[in-house]
Amino acid sequence: MNFDDLKATENQPVCSDEVKYAQLSNTFGAEVSGLDMSDDISDAIKSDLKHALFKHQILLFRQQELSEDQQVRFAQLFGPCRILWQNQHYPSKNDHAHYLSNVDAKGQPIGRHPDPGSTHWHSDGSWARQPSRATVLYGIQVPEGEGATHFANMYQLFASLDPQTKEYFETLNAEHNFELARASRQQRMPWQWFHSEVDRQPLVAQLKWWKSVLGRRLRDGAVYHPVVRRHPETGRPALFIGDHAWRISKRFWPAGIKLMKEINSLKIDPSATYTHQWQAGDLIIWDNGSVLHKVGEYNILDQVRIMRRCVVEN
Ligand SMILES: [Fe+2]
Repeated sequence: MNFDDLKATENQPVCSDEVKYAQLSNTFGAEVSGLDMSDDISDAIKSDLKHALFKHQILLFRQQELSEDQQVRFAQLFGPCRILWQNQHYPSKNDHAHYLSNVDAKGQPIGRHPDPGSTHWHSDGSWARQPSRATVLYGIQVPEGEGATHFANMYQLFASLDPQTKEYFETLNAEHNFELARASRQQRMPWQWFHSEVDRQPLVAQLKWWKSVLGRRLRDGAVYHPVVRRHPETGRPALFIGDHAWRISKRFWPAGIKLMKEINSLKIDPSATYTHQWQAGDLIIWDNGSVLHKVGEYNILDQVRIMRRCVVEN
């Protein structure tokens, strides 16, 4: 599929009168109504949804009642699903879905978000050599008025840059690494060990951590992606950055980290963002190749947030 194919479908009616698309923001995202994703859907609608995902970048389906298997079946409309292991307090029966929650096995809030890293802009799985295509998130229990998911349109952010900056960014590659990105953000780089105010582990523990992380990186090879990436489905240029992108390659580490931080701190115009305030039963799929996302704040001591997630491979 290329972008011209997508554009060609823009003004065509969807294949069922029942299915309607309504814009979520001025520039991206659509709410899809008229579909119960626990039901079988026709091949024509499946094909329409695939086009719609890459056209709108985010699709929202409200008031869905989905089992694990039904959610996975929905995600598989868009591609094969990744095996997920990071269940938090709720073991999933289907390996392609997992739960993210801030509560313990008795349903009581544990006082922390399941993955504090997800409060920073990121693209799920960008640390992989073959980054994920899409993420599917289903709201099971959500805090009222809090814990939104924020989305940023990376086509739009790239398009908003001046020509010189675009040209410069086109020359850059970023290394994506889940663990080193967190170390960099938390000021745990070796040259920061003795200069920062941050609480740290004993030196022996830090050395062990570095040995295992660098060992993995040596064994598997570093993962690089262009800062300006042509979207694999649409061919459109998008900034492919975010929290897992921790340094610009071919530079001395501190300089590469500094430049990556500057790029990751680019101001995102509010018109290029969409904030989704969850209701229980909301089902969202987003395109990781053109959208960054992050979870918003909520009262993690009192409020309960239980989500179920699937990740679609490229
Ligand atoms: Fe995420």
